[in-house]
Amino acid sequence: MSGSAKQVRLDRLLANMGYGSRKDIQMLVKAGRVRLDGKPLGDAGERIPVASDLSQRMTISGEPLDPPPGIVLIMHKPLGVTCSHKEAGPLVYQLLPPRWRARKPAISTIGRLDKETSGLLLLTDDGAMLHRAIAPKSKVAKRYLARLARPLRGDEAEVLASGTLMLEGETKPLLPVEMEIAPVADCGNPLVADDGAIGPIVAVTLMEGRYHQVRRMFAALGNHVAALHRDRFGGLRLPDELPAGDFRVLDDAQTAQIFA
Ligand code: URA
Repeated sequence: MSGSAKQVRLDRLLANMGYGSRKDIQMLVKAGRVRLDGKPLGDAGERIPVASDLSQRMTISGEPLDPPPGIVLIMHKPLGVTCSHKEAGPLVYQLLPPRWRARKPAISTIGRLDKETSGLLLLTDDGAMLHRAIAPKSKVAKRYLARLARPLRGDEAEVLASGTLMLEGETKPLLPVEMEIAPVADCGNPLVADDGAIGPIVAVTLMEGRYHQVRRMFAALGNHVAALHRDRFGGLRLPDELPAGDFRVLDDAQTAQIFA
């Protein structure tokens, strides 16, 4: 967020951040529990400049304000959770604090990972940024590590790089995909499993995000993906110190790395 911060009414801002109804906020303000730069705010209708440092300046009942609108998160998505607001079963949104799930606009995933794919997942409440990050014309590269069920036949890297591979049921070939045998240092725990797969771990980098693209790509090449993990999104890498199920808020410089 920049210096030309948008001004928003305090009660509207906090209600949209999940702190309660506008009436609840008015009561919090009346009780002196909303402070800016250490001083209690007296008017719930006051217009507040919403900049990214607001969490350092505002407290609610003594606690720092949650990150203001324009939030971008990096999550280490665990296996077995779904990127959906609606479906049954464990959802990635349940890994966020309950108040964050009541925010308007809602926090949504930037693209999706399958339930059985782990790794780097971005989330945001910024619709324009979300669309920019997933638009093919933005050419944001995503890297996946895939453990294959069967040995390579030998021509996979060439076919993927050629931009001619057609997925089942589609009419347009895939854009070129880069494939290499993953360096041992990149083959972390997420891909280790005792499921009988005997193929190598490969790293594939793609600019598109078609439905189940990596799994369907290897199916089209006569193989099968036994385990899948995303470790890079644009210029961002999943931090080693971020355990599965955890997330961090990105600052403006880290967010810019998505498009670097
Ligand atoms: N490709 C897949 O097949 N699954 C994912 O989750 C992401 C890319």
